Amino acid sequence: MNFFDNASFINYKKPWIAIENATTEELKSQIAKCPSGALGYYMNDEKDAESETLETKVEVLENGPLLVYGTLKVTDKEGNTETKNKTTAFCRCGQSNNKPYCDGSHLSSNFIG
Ligand code: FES
Repeated sequence: MNFFDNASFINYKKPWIAIENATTEELKSQIAKCPSGALGYYMNDEKDAESETLETKVEVLENGPLLVYGTLKVTDKEGNTETKNKTTAFCRCGQSNNKPYCDGSHLSSNFIG
């Protein structure tokens, strides 16, 4: 199954994720395959032992986002906080429509850095 073959991820509709169309395990599997790490999840009422044991690591992708591995609490400019697990891609090019996260816009803007 590839990313857009899954009925839960429909790239031409908004919202493009319909979580009710898949099992929890199918969603977790697809999210784990997200190449940028922009997709994430947390389990209600359950500790995620795997992400809690991940060492925090930062990686700059050439001409792309800043990848941060580990569990993060991200606070946006309005003061809303969300927990990100495993890999989070932060925009470095300034072109993302989903700041502070990368949405792939660095590709169409030919970001060099
Ligand atoms: S780095 Fe990817 S959208 Fe900016």
